[in-house]
Amino acid sequence: MARAFVCGWPIHHSRSPIIHGHWLTVHAVAGSYEAIAVPPGDIGGFFASLRADGFAGGNVTIPHKEAAYAAVEDRDADAMAIGAVNTMWFANGRLCGGNTDAYGFAANLDDRLAGWRDGREALVIGAGGASRAVIHALRQAGYRRSTVVNRTVARAEALAAHFGEGVDAGGLDRIEAEIRSADLIVNTTAAGMDGSEDLAIDLSHARRDAMATDIVYVPLMTPFLRRAAAADLRWADGLGMLLHQAVPGFEKWFGIRPQVTEELRRLVLADLEAHR
Ligand code: ATR
Repeated sequence: MARAFVCGWPIHHSRSPIIHGHWLTVHAVAGSYEAIAVPPGDIGGFFASLRADGFAGGNVTIPHKEAAYAAVEDRDADAMAIGAVNTMWFANGRLCGGNTDAYGFAANLDDRLAGWRDGREALVIGAGGASRAVIHALRQAGYRRSTVVNRTVARAEALAAHFGEGVDAGGLDRIEAEIRSADLIVNTTAAGMDGSEDLAIDLSHARRDAMATDIVYVPLMTPFLRRAAAADLRWADGLGMLLHQAVPGFEKWFGIRPQVTEELRRLVLADLEAHR
């Protein structure tokens, strides 16, 4: 029986067991997907014993994605571009690491925001780990210029330096100017969640054909997406990124490429609603 895991600290909030559990059932796979809480001090030992513990692989979430990057023997091109690993598997006896967040971001927009690949300029708000995956996805999709703006400008600058040509950095004060030329506007910050102050981005100066998306999916309709809808922009919520990023891992561990369906989306949404 193939075993897979998701490890994080904490881990109870992870929806990955719902996603993979659904696919295991749908495909009648004799396998398991276990959520494992691993404190930062124990993560090296956890990765070192994966093989002995009989795991085919698993997912890695906050705060272990950089430790996973360091622990694997081989890394795929996406993990190298992003500098973090969220999916592990064994190939030819070697522990491999990949990063499926950029794939998940792009696949979600392919599903829900037709034409996004035709864009050339993007505005990315926020410079955390998720922002790196977004910028990587935008570059792969052919965006010529991404401007990453962040409350802490130094983090945006570090991200721009990591990617080099085609990525500019700035503070939140750049938003107003950049919003006028962006084809796609992406929020990656949690500002406005849990009662915190919304960034109050004025989208009324966006291009009429501009598109917007948020990678935050709690709540599904974030303050940023509400503003996008009010400004009549086309928009896509971030839940599909979570669902799609899970696809490549399941395929690697269990040998079947699963589908992101409306049924799966409803299942995860119901859980999000139940644990608000
Ligand atoms: P992740 O890896 O999931 O992207 P993160 O590394 O904690 O998460 O990054 C969160 C992002 O949201 C950062 O860009 C952060 O800005 P700072 O780098 O200045 O901290 C941004 N963010 C979070 N809360 C914010 C708020 N209230 N206002 C503005 N930006 C906020």
